[in-house]
Amino acid sequence: MNKKIHVGILFGGKSAEHEISLLSAKNVIDALDKTKYEPVLIGIDKSGRWLMNKPSEFLLNSTNPKLIALNKTNSENVALTPQSEGRLMSLNSGYLDKTVDVVFPILHGPFGEDGTIQGLLKLAGVPFVGAGVLGSAVGMDKDVMKRLLRDAGIPIPGFLSFASNRPPKFKDVSRELGLPLFVKPANLGSSVGISKAKDETGFSKAVGDAFRYDTKILVEEAVQGREIECAVLGNDDPQASVPGEIIPTREFYDYDAKYVDENGARLEAPAKLNADTVRRVQELAIRTFQALNCEGMGRVDFFLKTDGTLLVNEINTIPGFTKISMYPRLWALSGISYTELIDRLIQLAIERFAHEQKLRTSHDS
Ligand SMILES: Nc1ncnc2c1ncn2[C@@H]1O[C@H](COP(=O)(O)OP(=O)(O)O)[C@@H](O)[C@H]1O
Ligand SMILES: [Mg+2]
Repeated sequence: MNKKIHVGILFGGKSAEHEISLLSAKNVIDALDKTKYEPVLIGIDKSGRWLMNKPSEFLLNSTNPKLIALNKTNSENVALTPQSEGRLMSLNSGYLDKTVDVVFPILHGPFGEDGTIQGLLKLAGVPFVGAGVLGSAVGMDKDVMKRLLRDAGIPIPGFLSFASNRPPKFKDVSRELGLPLFVKPANLGSSVGISKAKDETGFSKAVGDAFRYDTKILVEEAVQGREIECAVLGNDDPQASVPGEIIPTREFYDYDAKYVDENGARLEAPAKLNADTVRRVQELAIRTFQALNCEGMGRVDFFLKTDGTLLVNEINTIPGFTKISMYPRLWALSGISYTELIDRLIQLAIERFAHEQKLRTSHDS
C-alpha cells in the first residue's frame, strides 16, 4: 500500500475570522479522504503561535459556532523552518519525527490570506493549497487588485484610493463618484471597517473608521444590484462553478450579516439567473482569477445591476469552507463533492510545486 500523504492543516490565526477558520478546518478535516491522506493539525492561536495537537482533541466546543475555540492543552509549539521540506520543529525539543508533505492553509485575512504564510511555506519548501505569494497579496489589497482588474479590462465599480497622509475630500470624491459612497480599508476582509456614507458627516466618520484599520483606504461608488458569487478551481486551466447569490436583509453585507445576525443574509445556490448571465459570470470569474495571478482556488464576487451589467467586486483567495459556505456548496452543485474538492485542491498544490521545482534556480550557460 502506498504511504499516506501528510496534509498539514493550518487554521485559526491572528484574524477577525479566527472562529470561522476553526469551523472551516473542522469540515475540511472531516471530509478529507483518510485512505489517502493523514491530517496533521496545526492551530494558530490569536497571538500567532503554531500549536500542534491530536486530531481528536484540537477543538473545544466544536459543534457550537459561538463557543468554538482552539484547545491549547497538551499542544506542542511548532514551526516550519527554511528548507526543512516540511519537517516540523518543536520550539522545546528540536526537530520532530513529523513531516507535512503538503499544507492546506485555511486562514482568512491578514497573516493568512495575504501572502505572508505563503512566503513562509515557500521558504520551507512545502507545496501548499491556493494562490502563491503574489496572487495572495494582490487578492488581499483591494487597491492593487482593482488596478489590475481595470488594466485587464474587467468591469469594476468606480473607485479612488487614499493614503492616510492625503485623506479624501468629500466634495471631490462625491463629485466624481456620486452618492452614496462605500469607504473601506484596503487590506481587510469580513466587511470590517466598511461603511456606506450618504452625506458629508457620514463620510467623515466612515473615513476615520477605515483609517483605524489601514493606512490606505478605498472610496467607491455604491452599486445598486444583486450580489453574485462564483467559485473557481484549477491552475493553468481553471474551471468556474454555477453561481450563487447572497441576499442581505440589512443595508449591505456587513460584518453582522456575515457572522452575528443569523437572519442577516440568505444564501441562494444556485442563483436564479438566465443562461446568458451564468455564462458571463463564469467567463468573468475565470478572467478575474487569471488577471490576479491566482492558483488553486478563488471565489469571485460580483454585482449584477438591473440592466444586466456585471461588475467584479473582489476575489477571495481562501474562501470559507464551513458546511454552509458558498465555495464548497457551489462545487457540490456543479458535480464536485466536498471530499473530491479537497482532493483536487491538494493535487493541484502538489502539481504546481512539482512544476516549480523544475525551474532553474541558478544560471549555467
Ligand atoms: N461599491 C459597492 N457598492 C455596493 N455595495 C458594496 C460596495 N462595496 C462593498 N459593498 C457591500 O459591502 C460588502 C463587503 O465589501 P467587500 O468589498 O466585499 O469587502 P470584504 O472583503 O470585507 O468582504 C459587500 O459584500 C457589499 O454588500
Ligand atoms: Mg466581500
